[in-house]
Amino acid sequence: MKNNDRYFVPEDEGYEPGSNDEVLKNYLHITSKEIIDQIEASELQRTELELEDIVEQDQVFTADDICMFHELWLGDIYPFAGKYRTVNMSKAGFPFAAPNRIAELMQEFENNFLNRYTPCHETDRNKLAYILGSTHAELIIIHPFREGNGRLSRLLTNLMSMQAGMPQLNYISIDRTKNSDGFDGYIKAIHAAFAGNNEPIQKVFYKLLQDSA
Ligand SMILES: Nc1ncnc2c1ncn2[C@@H]1O[C@H](COP(=O)(O)OP(=O)(O)OP(=O)(O)O)[C@@H](O)[C@H]1O
Ligand SMILES: [Mg+2]
Repeated sequence: MKNNDRYFVPEDEGYEPGSNDEVLKNYLHITSKEIIDQIEASELQRTELELEDIVEQDQVFTADDICMFHELWLGDIYPFAGKYRTVNMSKAGFPFAAPNRIAELMQEFENNFLNRYTPCHETDRNKLAYILGSTHAELIIIHPFREGNGRLSRLLTNLMSMQAGMPQLNYISIDRTKNSDGFDGYIKAIHAAFAGNNEPIQKVFYKLLQDSA
């Protein structure tokens, strides 16, 4: 059992030797947290640019697309890229979906969110905030991948927002390192969504849309 600041992951053997359990096993054998963070960030930027060309205005996203986005981003770094997680994970006491339920939950996510809300052409800001917020929260609650779920879910809501003709969302107001109050409110909103109340996450996304306009 591992218990550290970031994640509580039972029975996870997946850290790079020599990284002090800070860096997941990677093809590059990088052991520095700072360096892997930089590589993940630049790969994410590359992925965002590539997806701007690939993704179509009228595209209905699928669970397979979500895996493809993750693979496109992290495929040269981690063996788990694009594959559903096999370990239990929780964050600050909040448990994400059990690994043996992820495939089924992602199919439900496809049916109930992706099929319903993409292509996303909603122009009413209130309704768009609801769609983006509830979709984002659901993907976070499932937490399908071993790492990168936050950034991937923000990437998805960005692509949907672009389909709706909105600019890229600016997430600074909910950034953990840059705005801790904003981040706390965002996490509370995810917990409320888990409990069936999407109003707080809708408000968070309404503000994000306002900030980005
Ligand atoms: N206490 C919590 N309860 C529920 N969800 C949380 C909690 N803390 C963080 N999260 C969600 O999990 C995400 C982090 O998951 P993960 O580490 O897989 O993604 P990431 O992209 O690597 O991280 P980050 O979002 O920090 O860049 C956060 O962005 C947030 O959406
Ligand atoms: Mg992470």
